[in-house]
Amino acid sequence: MDSKTTLILEKLEATSEEYWNISHQTGNFISMLIKATGAKNVLELGTSNGYSGLWIADALKYTNGHLTTIEFWEKRQCLARKYINECGLSDYVTFKIGQAYDIIKDEINEQFDLVFIDANKQEYIKFFEVIHPLLKKGGIILADNVTSHAKKVEPFVSAISNNDEYQVQILDLPDGLLMAYKL
Ligand SMILES: C[S@@+](CC[C@H](N)C(=O)[O-])C[C@H]1O[C@@H](n2cnc3c(N)ncnc32)[C@H](O)[C@@H]1O
Repeated sequence: MDSKTTLILEKLEATSEEYWNISHQTGNFISMLIKATGAKNVLELGTSNGYSGLWIADALKYTNGHLTTIEFWEKRQCLARKYINECGLSDYVTFKIGQAYDIIKDEINEQFDLVFIDANKQEYIKFFEVIHPLLKKGGIILADNVTSHAKKVEPFVSAISNNDEYQVQILDLPDGLLMAYKL
């Protein structure tokens, strides 16, 4: 990671509560996972100000991959564009504005190596329905806040845990990160 990206990540960590960002540890884990698996095509639901997107795009620079990230709050998406641009990572990111479920259902038909779910917690179950067909076999779903928002995400956690096509583990990272491997 270059020093500019490290600096911007550090700066954004000061406002992580306002923008509902993932923890530093979670960002570092996702980055390592992308590098270790060589993931190239990544989808993110919930861009916010681009904190997690910076971790992901920086890792995708390493694997020569690409991130598509969805956000419905224009002001937040503008901030994310600015930070990604300042870090020289714009070539690795496509931004989409709107409701994640509708965009995935209506506009996206490519296959992904990794999908990171971090938008409205109550919709995780709906997101899973449209993500499942787009995830390659051997691909990974990551979902944040499965312990911090356990009640809201319970239908999703239960559905994916009982689905024979997935091997699932909840990781003890801040807020709880679910990792599901598509068999
Ligand atoms: C937890 S924050 C994402 C944080 C970001 N992943 C990070 O760590 O930097 C969730 C974001 O998802 C957006 N969001 C929530 N529900 C959404 C939906 N259904 N479609 C698109 N964006 C959504 C919110 O506006 C918010 O900015």
